[in-house]
Amino acid sequence: MGEYVKVAKTSEIDDQCAKCVEVGGRNIALFNLGGEFYAIDDLCTHEEGPLSEGYVENGEVECPWHAARFDIKTGKALCEPAYEDQPKFNVRVVGDDVEVEV
Ligand code: FES
Repeated sequence: MGEYVKVAKTSEIDDQCAKCVEVGGRNIALFNLGGEFYAIDDLCTHEEGPLSEGYVENGEVECPWHAARFDIKTGKALCEPAYEDQPKFNVRVVGDDVEVEV
């Protein structure tokens, strides 16, 4: 089991938006879906495009580089050109802090 690290305030990420946070030397994309927060690796499994800068719709994020889509809650790769799922991280909210388990 990892440890939870504070990465953001809940107010920093608008609904249906994301923010890239750096934890332990790795970039993680933190998403707000209707007040629930989710975290997946920021670097796309295709060619490392920044998913935190991708288009969010219906719980999915579209990579800004070649349009692969991933399920934000599970990290699952949903279409080509990505075949590998994104690593996913547990998230918890403590007060108004968002914490990610790493
Ligand atoms: S880098 Fe994400 S689809 Fe190519």
